Amino acid sequence: MAPTKQISANNSTYSSQTQSSAGKSNSHINKQKTSIRGLVAELLSCVNPDKPLVSLAVGDASVYPCFHQGQDAIKILSDSNSSGEFISYAPSFGLPRVRRAVAEYLSWGVRHGIKEEDVYLMVGGTQAIQVCTTVLATGRGANLLIPRPGFPLYEAKCCLSGVEPRFYDLLPEKNWELDPAQLRALADHNTVGLVLISPNNPCGVAYSSSHLLQIAETARDLNIPIIADEVYGHMVFGGGKFVPMASFAHIAPVITIGSLSKRWMVPGWRIGWLAFVDPYGSLKQVCFLIFFLWSLIHYTIRHN
Ligand SMILES: Cc1ncc(COP(=O)(O)O)c(C=O)c1O
Repeated sequence: MAPTKQISANNSTYSSQTQSSAGKSNSHINKQKTSIRGLVAELLSCVNPDKPLVSLAVGDASVYPCFHQGQDAIKILSDSNSSGEFISYAPSFGLPRVRRAVAEYLSWGVRHGIKEEDVYLMVGGTQAIQVCTTVLATGRGANLLIPRPGFPLYEAKCCLSGVEPRFYDLLPEKNWELDPAQLRALADHNTVGLVLISPNNPCGVAYSSSHLLQIAETARDLNIPIIADEVYGHMVFGGGKFVPMASFAHIAPVITIGSLSKRWMVPGWRIGWLAFVDPYGSLKQVCFLIFFLWSLIHYTIRHN
């Protein structure tokens, strides 16, 4: 814990220095640890040179040659690049054929098929998380239910968007399942969603159909969407089975987050997506905001 304390102390020193200078900046970014890589970089900057580090952060399989993708993927990418076909502005939400491919992939075994227009391409799962928390920030007091232990980016992005992160526990004695009664106790009329990570980082569990059904019923009763982080989709241990949360979208609306980073082991390509699985159209307003936000981001990128 010592290095973390050191870092918080450094952060607050940094924060007070920047806030007292003439140019003011977003104090949330100074106060919060907004990325794991940022935190690791800080840790690495204060290592003891006499003590070698053992890295437990195996978040990027692609650094190991045994996990390198075959030449096929690389060739497809370089052929696309040299074809000259993709040098112009792409539509803000991604090329239709790419959105269609993601929609088809996500629709396997899912009752309510996902359509091309339900898919929004993002810069990795990371940006999908950022976009979700930004559009769900409905104003003062909005809160989001997120798992503990969890993936720290959710807490960081909540803080940046002004959303209160409310932590629900994953229970080790129940194979890291959650307790729906705790969700009900934590939620109130300002709760804007429930984040579920399955297969889970860091606990490794892929939730069963029956548990996902319980969660969907709880979200339905609370009248909130489920943000299903399935960045590790289809990666399960032993005889485990991956069931997409979208299978239960007829009970509660689902926003699925995914990316090529883990299963396809190309995290450097930064390709991710958000998909709305919302058969009854309850998330129309959220979709509209994503449309608006995303168009704005693209406009800014193109015109600066
Ligand atoms: C649970 C979870 N969600 C999202 C992400 C971010 O995905 P990406 O690397 O595609 O931005 C990660 C990355 O480690 C993750 O573990």
